[in-house]
Amino acid sequence: EQREMRMWLEAYELTAKFYEAVLNGTEQGKPAKQYLVERGFTDKMIRTFRIGFAPAFWDKLSQVLESKGYNLSSLEQGGLVRHGNNGYLDLFRERIIFPIHNHQGRIIAFAGRVLHSDQQPKYLNTPETKLFHKSKVLYNLHQARPYIRKKNQIVLFEGYADVIKAWEAGVDNGVAAMGTSLTSEHASMMKRYAAEVILCYDGDEAGQKAAYKNLQVLEQSGLHVKVAMLPPRMDPDEYIMKHGNRTFMTEIIGSPLTSTQFKLQWFKRKYNLNQPDSKLAYIRSSLHIISQLQAPSERELYLKELSRDCDIEIATLKQEMHEMRQENQKKQRIGDNIQKPWNNVMNDR
Ligand code: UTP
Ligand code: MN
Ligand code: MN
Ligand code: MN
Ligand code: MN
Repeated sequence: EQREMRMWLEAYELTAKFYEAVLNGTEQGKPAKQYLVERGFTDKMIRTFRIGFAPAFWDKLSQVLESKGYNLSSLEQGGLVRHGNNGYLDLFRERIIFPIHNHQGRIIAFAGRVLHSDQQPKYLNTPETKLFHKSKVLYNLHQARPYIRKKNQIVLFEGYADVIKAWEAGVDNGVAAMGTSLTSEHASMMKRYAAEVILCYDGDEAGQKAAYKNLQVLEQSGLHVKVAMLPPRMDPDEYIMKHGNRTFMTEIIGSPLTSTQFKLQWFKRKYNLNQPDSKLAYIRSSLHIISQLQAPSERELYLKELSRDCDIEIATLKQEMHEMRQENQKKQRIGDNIQKPWNNVMNDR
């Protein structure tokens, strides 16, 4: 068992070298290299993140691994090859390869992105193996870890490209989950290294929805969360391409919303404020969030904003919040679940 894991790790390393060599030194790799250059990936980024390219052959990697004496049936378990009708086939074909490292810096999996945007799925991962559990891996943690510790802060992105571009812009404490779903395992891992997380998800609807969901996962683990907002329909990579590194660092990473600000603006977008019922639901959801804040001055700050927003006297809001707090305390005493007024907003999508 131990020996097999060691053999897999060696094979992953060799595989990464193979993909890098294809990208950087072969005719096959040229279109991929050109694609990366057009997207603003520099040689330094390609080297540091060990980006590679899986050529459009059926079994080139399988042949290489076999010629080096690796047992392909074991590597099938390791997620590198799969059994076809005539022997073994490569898992990745004609894809840009992003190696995925464990926190110790050993490669344990790969993510492959299509070169042509009409192909599906856009990203393909190594399947789960004994060494690779999606729900426990954070992309780039191995390189970011010392900076995360020093800053006591993690910047969490949605995509690999975002981590890499932001790294060049100066975000040395950036990581990404595999896809948009963040597990409580991820969150407690992050809690071990830092107290604060800046969420920097895509500006599109999917990204913002994931940010809202993951914000709660992170807070449940006791992390302090801020949310760096991007313009609608832009992700960090695209923003950096358009506005440059410095603007990204000051305007986006350097000016995050507080978690409360983010939740309130999320509700504002979700509820139709022209309709009385919906507007009242918006007020109740917002009050619920505000009521959970510890400092009275903090509560007052957001109450004022809400009061301006809805054109309702701050005294009225205060009273309603007061009643809400009492109600919740009563419910907590009898062990009831607190009905969260925004649950229905999350369910209707
Ligand atoms: P996005 O669709 O935002 O991709 O998904 P991206 O990172 O901006 O990719 P580029 O810039 O087009 O290359 C965010 C993340 O979700 C996961 C990947 O981790 C991706 O980076 N994802 C996305 C998948 O696992 N599979 C998919 O098919 C799509
Ligand atoms: Mn092609
Ligand atoms: Mn996205
Ligand atoms: Mn994206
Ligand atoms: Mn992108």
